[in-house]
Amino acid sequence: MGVKIIATGAYVPSYRVSNTDLECLLDTTDEWIQQRTGIISRHISQGENTSDLGYYAAKMAIEQANIDVAKIDFIIVATMSADYNTPSTACLIQEKLDANNAFACDINAACSGFVYALHIARSLMDYSTNGYGLVIGSEVMSKLLNWNDRSTAILFGDGAGCVLLEKSVKSNLLSHVLHSDGEKGLSLCAVENPVCNPFVDNEKEVLPFLRMNGRDIFNFSTRQIPTLILETVEKAECTLDDIDYFLIHQANLRIIELVAKKLDVPLDKFPTNVEHYGNTSSASIPILLDELIQQRKIVLNGECTILMAGFGGGLTWGALLIRI
Ligand code: UT7
Repeated sequence: MGVKIIATGAYVPSYRVSNTDLECLLDTTDEWIQQRTGIISRHISQGENTSDLGYYAAKMAIEQANIDVAKIDFIIVATMSADYNTPSTACLIQEKLDANNAFACDINAACSGFVYALHIARSLMDYSTNGYGLVIGSEVMSKLLNWNDRSTAILFGDGAGCVLLEKSVKSNLLSHVLHSDGEKGLSLCAVENPVCNPFVDNEKEVLPFLRMNGRDIFNFSTRQIPTLILETVEKAECTLDDIDYFLIHQANLRIIELVAKKLDVPLDKFPTNVEHYGNTSSASIPILLDELIQQRKIVLNGECTILMAGFGGGLTWGALLIRI
């Protein structure tokens, strides 16, 4: 049994913040941001939360496929910026969609979240009754940021992307490779939740925002992602030439360019949109996929082979090779 993507959706808040806008807030320049990251602007929420963005993306996919929401068996949301610790963002979206027959839960694998969630969804589909499931990557990263820290505040944006899956006889997921390395987890962490009750003495300083050692993450990703891609391709017994598009987590244009160079694959097989959205964590790959489908560069006819690769907090990294 396998899964196939039958529709996609994406949503970003309407408020666009350019690098020049950020020059008024932080000791930074448009030139520095563009040179080091490729980012020109990002969309920032002015109130819509993670479940709202995810809901709009999911609604778009459901409308496109024109299926009855009652047939959706599960909703998995990849996020590191949930509305609440509980209820999960997935349950909030289930309520907004009226998808009453679906079970719903979040997973957190930071910027690798969408790839992890899609792999989990494939396994869940074996037990699905009606044969439909939603996988959503949704983030309001702006609420995790320290807006006085120029080394992180310029990098991230808010947004959501979604795929609607249908059970299929043929397995369209050709291979997957997922990795985690908790030992290096503190290179990228966000919002510490320490034990706080009347029985503990809490003198400890708590991390209220996202903190990242950018250089460590840059080196980790440019070292691990080419290896990860080769591992995934080898597992499916195909070659890099068989892949139409490489959808790499949109963290930084320089990372994507270096990965393409290391693999000796033409850069035009690595579509990007980090320029306009910044790093939207678990939402970056599904937003990009939806954009390529809207531009008709990808058609959902079972003839396009794409490799999705995510990396980030945890540390986590993972890839899927999929025919869509
Ligand atoms: O989703 C996955 C998680 N994140 C990532 O993938 C991020 C990976 N890392 C990166 O993309 C890059 O490391 C950054 C873009 C974050 C930083 O680029 P870098 O080339 O590694 O710069 P750096 O941190 O080594 O900083 C170089 C200089 C420093 O000044 P000094 O010490 O050389 O005087 C920083 O203080 O640039 C300074 N700097 C800035 N200057 C202007 C740092 N941030 C800024 C800024 N504007 N926004």
